[in-house]
Amino acid sequence: MSLRIETAADAEGLAAKVVDRLEALGNTAIRERGRFIVSLAGGSTPRAVYPRWAQRSTLDWSKVVLLFGDERCVPPTQPESNFRMVEETLLAGLRVKPQVYRMEGEVPDPGQAARQYENTVRDLLGADGRLDLALLGMGEDGHTASLFPRQPALREAQALCVRTAAPTGQPRLTLTVPVLRNARELMILVAGASKAAIVNRVLEGRLDPESLPIQFFLRDGRLNVSLMLDRAAGVNVKVA
Ligand code: 6PG
Repeated sequence: MSLRIETAADAEGLAAKVVDRLEALGNTAIRERGRFIVSLAGGSTPRAVYPRWAQRSTLDWSKVVLLFGDERCVPPTQPESNFRMVEETLLAGLRVKPQVYRMEGEVPDPGQAARQYENTVRDLLGADGRLDLALLGMGEDGHTASLFPRQPALREAQALCVRTAAPTGQPRLTLTVPVLRNARELMILVAGASKAAIVNRVLEGRLDPESLPIQFFLRDGRLNVSLMLDRAAGVNVKVA
């Protein structure tokens, strides 16, 4: 297994590299297993990638299954909703629609929504329990999905989806470390000068995934990880 680090000059270049990798992984998955099952990232970085993916893709989207790595506990019509962001930036641009399974963050009991999503994920992944791809972002505190520093969710070893909360207190739903680590590939998208320091810290600094959750994925040679950076975020990275 391996950590591949790719650096693009700017946001446009990053989107192009990410779409190339998405298409390659998608074609391989569909050819070898008849479908491409991906958990999508929320946040602003993928927001710039998804429209380009929709525009350039040549995948058979009838064989693509989209899940979410996390969701804010808001209705899917709210601006903060990751589902709404994906609907507007990816799904709207696709003539052939994929299967999409959103986390129902709007229900009164997020714990129930987490259990329900776990059942959906288990049914979809079947015996091998593996996503083809987990697409992830990273916050300036080293969080990914809604796996935030020093939270009980980081130590969840059985459930595939749990309720949690952002440091702001905003209730969230998130896939857990085990199901993300079990993905055939993890692709981590990081862009912008504000991320340069944390990129260097998570790659070169002390291994402390409880404080820097992305390290559950970035610092384990058993995983197949692509770290996709723009130049601003990767300015301190020594690429071999
Ligand atoms: C979310 C994401 C979250 C995101 C990081 C980075 O729901 O916000 O899942 O983990 O990937 O916070 O966000 P940006 O791409 O906006 O910097």
